[in-house]
Amino acid sequence: MYYPQELIDEVQQNNDIVDVINEYIPLTKKGSNYVCICPFHADTNPSLMVSRQKQLFKCFACGEGGNVFTFLQKYDSKTFVEAVQTLAQRSGIKLPETYTGEFSKEKQDKKLRMIECNTEAARYFYAFLRSDAGKVGLDYFKKRELSDETMKKFGLGFADINGSVVKYLKNQGFTDKEILDSGLGTFDERNGLRSKFWNRVMFPIKNQAGKVIGFGGRVLGDGEPKYLNSPETPIFNKSTNLYAFDIARASRSKYFILCEGYMDVIALHQAGFNMAVASLGTAFTPGQANIIKRYANDVYLSYDSDGPGVTAAIRAAKICREFGLSCKVINMKPYKDPDEFIKNLGKEEFQKRIDEAKNAFIFEIGTLREKYDPSDPDANTRYDNEVAALLAEMKDEVVRTNYIKACAKEMGISVDTLTNMVAKEAGRLRNFNRPVREQSGIHEKKDDSKARLQQLMLTYLAEYPSIYPQIKDYVSPDDFWEEPYKEVATKFFEDLKNGNASPARMVNMFEDEEVQNTVSNMFTSTLSGVEDKEEIAGALVDIIFRLKSNSLDEKRKSEAGLDPKEYMEKKKELMEIRKIKITIPE
Ligand code: CTP
Ligand code: MN
Repeated sequence: MYYPQELIDEVQQNNDIVDVINEYIPLTKKGSNYVCICPFHADTNPSLMVSRQKQLFKCFACGEGGNVFTFLQKYDSKTFVEAVQTLAQRSGIKLPETYTGEFSKEKQDKKLRMIECNTEAARYFYAFLRSDAGKVGLDYFKKRELSDETMKKFGLGFADINGSVVKYLKNQGFTDKEILDSGLGTFDERNGLRSKFWNRVMFPIKNQAGKVIGFGGRVLGDGEPKYLNSPETPIFNKSTNLYAFDIARASRSKYFILCEGYMDVIALHQAGFNMAVASLGTAFTPGQANIIKRYANDVYLSYDSDGPGVTAAIRAAKICREFGLSCKVINMKPYKDPDEFIKNLGKEEFQKRIDEAKNAFIFEIGTLREKYDPSDPDANTRYDNEVAALLAEMKDEVVRTNYIKACAKEMGISVDTLTNMVAKEAGRLRNFNRPVREQSGIHEKKDDSKARLQQLMLTYLAEYPSIYPQIKDYVSPDDFWEEPYKEVATKFFEDLKNGNASPARMVNMFEDEEVQNTVSNMFTSTLSGVEDKEEIAGALVDIIFRLKSNSLDEKRKSEAGLDPKEYMEKKKELMEIRKIKITIPE
């Protein structure tokens, strides 16, 4: 269900972002903007900035940003449509009951259908668990000591042996293709479309907004695979979602507990630890760390106590460290995982283990120590070197220095000695001085300075729309060479031309939370710290020049290419840009 753009614009215009956010968190005026403590990460200084002019907010610490709708989406775990509805009500605007109009984008509709399909399937599995035929599933969960309340909270269900969910979905009007695309079916020539899941207890997986995007299904007894998961689909990205994150985020805890499995998370929640989450049948990813980082600074690892569990914990801890998350390891011994631990020792004991949890790096070097014979001096040297090598990988100097101090103490050698060893190891690492997050996988492809150019151009245009006529002959959306910049620039330039540009509206063009963030940040890339108009004008000329020369280079490199003559001409035009004069209005 989507509303026409004009209606969304009207709702947006009648709900000033400053007033709305102020109803949730008190704002203080700062220059031409407003600031408050950011609710999306553990904030101490007010780092969330709200701009009345742009109708956007942005946290300069955690990077979270958006318009008035995205604020509600993030703050209250609402969907876009729900946010529109809430704000329409707030401002007394009447919305049509249902609307599926020509304005809805095909892509958004497809994704929406996939979510609907998964939601319907979850309903079906849930009801089936409570039917006579679902008793085996219910008995299974009962045997695992789950309460009715817990089963309800997690929407647990059962997929029957006949895979009847497919028939149900078809009756609900979903096409074969929709069922397949949603990850719920499999297809082969002989049997046609069949349910992917059968004879399994079902764990619905939800996205940050609490919508069902996939499933994990467990066999009732022993069998392979133990867990079968939905495939990745346009709505189910395994590396940027976490199991139970919607609930954990709403708990507003200062930390998250990270587990390996669905059952671990559920057992912890049942025991009152609502901040437990798990990665989704894959190893913990940088994308997941990035999401956690917006809400907390601390992560407690509650992984299996066996060998693979320890290895996985060490890997997860390293990713956490790269994102500046402080990471501790909960000792689960003598039990295998948190589920078994809670069953046997209860929640008070688990809380004690949380309180006693050890810094993950100290834990890591402790497990390393076990590999070396302490009575052999050569083994000790190798151990010391190995720790030094790990320390050398830490790229943040303050972090590294503090760890050197702590490790020296653990290892029984002096801080100076260890510092020297680390320096030597670091010399071998070419990437010693690279920024902390560079290797995390998220930012590695983006050339930050180029992205920044495109952002700055849009930010200045948002701040001073009246410069548009002065620059329109020199710069165009064609000079933006990356998505989503190009798409946003095209629309924004068009709106500028028509005299109705609104950066906040641009955010609504996209559905994906991450993309919305990116788009919002395109318009808030300066703190409006520069007040000197001449300075801004100079900066703008420079930005336009660099933007054009970059796009020229990109074009030359591209497949279609530019013939040398054309290239020379453009190059000449480029030199003219240096001469343009821009006046920034008062
Ligand atoms: N997993 C998976 N595929 C498998 C096995 C495991 O995707 N074949 C994932 C699931 O997300 C599971 C997690 O890894 O929740 C942990 O697996 P494991 O430790 O084997 O299971 P437990 O959480 O102990 O599950 P249970 O208690 O139900 O045996
Ligand atoms: Mn288990």
